[in-house]
Amino acid sequence: MNVKLIDIPKILNREGNIAVLENGVVPFDIKRVYYLYDIPSTSKRGGHAHKKLNQILIAISGSFDVVLKDGKNQQVITMNKPDKGLLISNNIWRELENFSSGAVCLVLASEVYDEDDYIRNYKSFVAYINSNK
Ligand code: TYD
Repeated sequence: MNVKLIDIPKILNREGNIAVLENGVVPFDIKRVYYLYDIPSTSKRGGHAHKKLNQILIAISGSFDVVLKDGKNQQVITMNKPDKGLLISNNIWRELENFSSGAVCLVLASEVYDEDDYIRNYKSFVAYINSNK
């Protein structure tokens, strides 16, 4: 599946650590940054795919699960470390759930917001990726 866990370079210090994302680590030009916060533990976010957009998700604080589907396979990745980034390429269905208290999900995105880039219906997603092959 076209997803990858990235080790974010960090500077460890007993007074507190720094994680740094710069050109070379992120495989696309970042056009947008946003974050999810104040997320009720029962929330399910995502539930869509993108036609073009690539993203990196980071559990800046707390934890959550990311369910990923490519139309054939499914995998679940628990994000709970601020020095790990989950690269999700286009044409991957994602659902975010099981948010811990205080969880913050930072997202680096390769495109500005465009509702036309979303596929929000799972059946449409499967039809879309099959028509692209
Ligand atoms: P959505 O991407 O569906 O949220 P999530 O995947 O986290 O569940 O976005 C939720 C709403 O917010 C939707 O109406 C679109 C809007 N939105 C923007 O206007 N700009 C943005 O950059 C994002 C990420 C969402």
